[in-house]
Amino acid sequence: MSVLVTGATGRVGSLVVENLTRAGVPVRALTRRAEAVATFPPDVEVVTGDLTVPDSLETALRDVSTVFLVWTAPPDTVPAVVERLAAQAGRIVFLSSPHRTPHPFFQQANPMAELHDRIERLIAASGAESTIIRPGMFASNAFAWWAPAIRAGQPVRWPYGGAETAPVDDRDVAAVAARTLHGDGHAGGDHVVTGPESLGQAEQVAIIGEVLGRPIEFQELSPDEFRRETAATWPGPVVDMLLAAWGATMGRPAFVTSTVLDVLGSAPRTFRQSVADHVAEFVSSPANR
Ligand SMILES: NC(=O)c1ccc[n+]([C@@H]2O[C@H](COP(=O)([O-])OP(=O)(O)OC[C@H]3O[C@@H](n4cnc5c(N)ncnc54)[C@H](OP(=O)(O)O)[C@@H]3O)[C@@H](O)[C@H]2O)c1
Repeated sequence: MSVLVTGATGRVGSLVVENLTRAGVPVRALTRRAEAVATFPPDVEVVTGDLTVPDSLETALRDVSTVFLVWTAPPDTVPAVVERLAAQAGRIVFLSSPHRTPHPFFQQANPMAELHDRIERLIAASGAESTIIRPGMFASNAFAWWAPAIRAGQPVRWPYGGAETAPVDDRDVAAVAARTLHGDGHAGGDHVVTGPESLGQAEQVAIIGEVLGRPIEFQELSPDEFRRETAATWPGPVVDMLLAAWGATMGRPAFVTSTVLDVLGSAPRTFRQSVADHVAEFVSSPANR
C-alpha cells in the first residue's frame, strides 16, 4: 500500500515525497499537470488528479493506506474529497495552520485559517484516523519576500520590523509530516511546528546580511505604505492578513514549540542555517535574474 501525497509539486509536498522515498515508503504523487511527471524520481509513482474534480481522484486513491493532504485549491469540493479520502485510505495527515493556538499572531481573521478549520472538522467527522500538521511562518516566505531587493543591492522596505516570528525551515515541516505518515503511533497527533527561536523581522534581515557578509538596510514602512507598495502584485486579503498578524504580535515573543525535536529527535534548523543553505537565492545569477 502506498502513501498518496497531494501538493506533491509544492514546497512541502515535494519534500515529503523525498523524505518518504528515502525511508523506503512507496509513494504516489498527485499533480494536476501531466508535464510535472518528469520532475519526479523514477521510483515515485505519479498520477494526475484535481482536488476540485473529486472523480478525477479515483486512480490516485486505489490501494492507498494514507494520504498527505495539502489544500490550496478553491474550497467547494472539500466535503466530497474528504469523504473519498476517508473511505478509501482511512488515514489522513493534513497540512493545516496553528489557528487554534492562543497567540495573537495566529488569532487574526484569516480566510485560510477558516478553510483549514473546516477541513479539520470534516476529517474528524469522517471517521478517518488523522494527524494535523500546523506550521508557523515558513522561513522560505522571508526568502521569497526579501531576496529580490537583496539581490538588487536595495534596502528591504517592510512593515513591523519588530514583529517576531519563529521561522521554520520547509525541510523540518516536511520531515515531521513524513514521520507521521510512515512512523507508528502518530494517529490523533496534532503538531504546531515552529523554528527554534523568536526573531524580529528586521533581525531576520540582519541575519541574512551577516550570512552574506554585507549589511542589508531595513527601511520600516507604515502599514499603509506597505499596502500601496504591494497593491499591484499581492492579493489584498493576503496583505491584510499579514499586517493584522504582525501588528497583533508586536511586543510579544513568537510562539515556539519543541515539535521538531520531539517528533524527529533532532533540533530544528535555525533561521541562520536556513539562510546559509539558500545563499544562492540572495545572490544575483543568471538563474534568478
Ligand atoms: N507559507 C506559510 O508560512 C504557511 C504556514 C502554515 C501553513 N501553510 C499552508 O501550507 C499550504 C501550502 O503548502 P505549500 O507551500 O507546500 O504549497 P505550494 O508550494 O503553494 O503548492 C501547492 C500545491 O497544491 C497543488 N494543487 C493546487 N491546486 C490543486 C488542485 N486543484 N488539485 C490538486 N492539487 C492542487 C499544486 O500541485 P499541481 O500544480 O502540480 O497540481 C501544488 O503541488 C497552504 O495550505 C498554506 O495555508 C503555509
